[in-house]
Amino acid sequence: MAKIIAGIGSSHVPAIGAALDNGKTEEPYWKRVFSGFEKSKEWMAKTKPDVAIVVYNDHASAFSVEMIPTFALGCAAEFPPADEGWGPRPVPVVKGHPALAAHIAQSVILDEFDLTIVNKMEVDHGLTVPMNLLFGQPKDAWPCPVIPLAVNVVMYPPPTGHRCYMLGKALRRAVESYPEDLKVVIFGTGGLSHQISGPRAGLINSKWDKSFLDNLSKDQKKLTRIPHLEYMREAGAEGIEMVMWLIMRGALDDKVDEVYRFYTVPASNTAVGHIILENARKASGTRKVAGKSKRGSAGKSRQAAARKSIHRIASKGTR
Ligand code: DHB
Ligand code: FE
Repeated sequence: MAKIIAGIGSSHVPAIGAALDNGKTEEPYWKRVFSGFEKSKEWMAKTKPDVAIVVYNDHASAFSVEMIPTFALGCAAEFPPADEGWGPRPVPVVKGHPALAAHIAQSVILDEFDLTIVNKMEVDHGLTVPMNLLFGQPKDAWPCPVIPLAVNVVMYPPPTGHRCYMLGKALRRAVESYPEDLKVVIFGTGGLSHQISGPRAGLINSKWDKSFLDNLSKDQKKLTRIPHLEYMREAGAEGIEMVMWLIMRGALDDKVDEVYRFYTVPASNTAVGHIILENARKASGTRKVAGKSKRGSAGKSRQAAARKSIHRIASKGTR
């Protein structure tokens, strides 16, 4: 079966992409930022995931303000980099995993999370910057296929942190019901504290950010109860992006090992936060999860029943 083995949290500041694209990585200002991701690139090169699910937000690049899905799953075969005003970033086209994405869509929607299915989409800095930070700057192709999951955090109302966390759990059930053995990692991107405009532009709250990072492994349930207003007040208007990290966290075991953390301020006007969390029982290999999870019977049997009925419909159709 496919398995989510680790979660990665990472800021996705667009200026980091611009620094990479314009050869500024050795400048002291930027070196401070990039040096924090050296160990992460080593970790990723060793981990060699078969697929990455990248939870990010579109910044009015693929979806204009005319239409903003709350949760949009990229099911296409490829996702070109978006033109965000200076032409598309010079990064490889992101290749998708349509079979796993379609399976996730089926599983998660039958699990009563109403995702939007997206079959054509460009991806902006929200996705491509964390890819660079963890996979470096490949010229021709990214090392693994990617399933983008775009979350609305740009127009009120965004989903609650708790909803995001529960979606993470549904994603995990989806991945673990995919029959092929695949090693999957999940990214939660955005944040940390930042505010781009208005009188509080430039706001950074390192104390609050640190407590958020601490609680990803210490008390994630507490994080799921943070109301939108607290994100806005403490972490700035754009700090609300941090709810996306809770999708990543929900997709992991209750207990995780924090294997790496990096925090620096500022990059552009933003606090840069990064964490790698591994499932505590990662090493134990083939772990049985099906049927044993706390959520257990109700949701699972609803899903199983829905799958069976789909199967019946499908087999009727072929008779
Ligand atoms: C900026 C934009 C972002 O989307 C983000 O997450 C952080 C910073 C910016 O414009 O500086
Ligand atoms: Fe952003």
